[in-house]
Amino acid sequence: MKIIGSLTEISRQAAKWQRQGLKIALVPTMGCLHEGHLSLMRQAAAVADRIIVSIFVNPIQFGPNEDFGSYPRQFQTDCELAEKEGVHAIFSPESKDMYGDSFQTKVHVAKLSEGMCGADRPGHFDGVATVVLKLFHLTLPDFAVFGQKDFQQLAIIRRLVIDLNLKVEIIGCPIVREQDGLAMSSRNKYLLGESRSQALCLSKAIQTARKFVAESQQQVPAATVISQTREIIAQAGGKLEYAVVVNETTLENETIVTPQSMLAIAVKIGGTVRLIDNARLFPEPE
Ligand code: PAF
Repeated sequence: MKIIGSLTEISRQAAKWQRQGLKIALVPTMGCLHEGHLSLMRQAAAVADRIIVSIFVNPIQFGPNEDFGSYPRQFQTDCELAEKEGVHAIFSPESKDMYGDSFQTKVHVAKLSEGMCGADRPGHFDGVATVVLKLFHLTLPDFAVFGQKDFQQLAIIRRLVIDLNLKVEIIGCPIVREQDGLAMSSRNKYLLGESRSQALCLSKAIQTARKFVAESQQQVPAATVISQTREIIAQAGGKLEYAVVVNETTLENETIVTPQSMLAIAVKIGGTVRLIDNARLFPEPE
């Protein structure tokens, strides 16, 4: 496995693979890899000949009071995990190379970035869209694989690809959960002591909503699902940042739960750890 920090070198390597007729899949990450990321690499291996994993804690997607400085970093372990998955190259650039002193361009996906995490984290999705577009240019992927846990991010990237006529196929992979239901996230490392069990309120709220919809004999108002969610989060002592029922593609609020409805939530646990989770509300078709 190659470990590449230089922008010129990754571009050269990707262009070489492309000339050789090899299909490239990119798995963009910020490192601190867990089973969720490994599932993305396995999906990448299923569709492409060469897998590039980018590891870059992207400063421009963090707000001034967010956790950029303390974001968990474990580069050596990440390389070992990626190598075991058969990854061909790790791309791990320096911030100063990605964003020189005079950097001033941002990519803004307007409407989809407005609500949910976009409302709580102003500028976050501009930072994500900008780095993802740069990574696409540098690594020339035929496929790019993302997790559905960051479901708003996935919708934004799909829109970016359509709007800018990018020739990359976006693949979304299911959320990977711990045995007790907690969605895997690099930020779970922050969950110490009783925060870890408190954090289960996210998956509990989602399971409860899905069960309620599955058992309901009539149309379910989104407001009912949202108020049940609020109650579960409050009982667990979490601070709800948002709970919404939205259309999976447009991210517009829905009033009645439909087969396209997603419940998406963001909760602060222990006052500081911000976690997100989501799920389709209708049972999956058999
Ligand atoms: O999902 C993430 O880890 C990041 O937002 C991404 C897509 C790697 C961009 O920095």
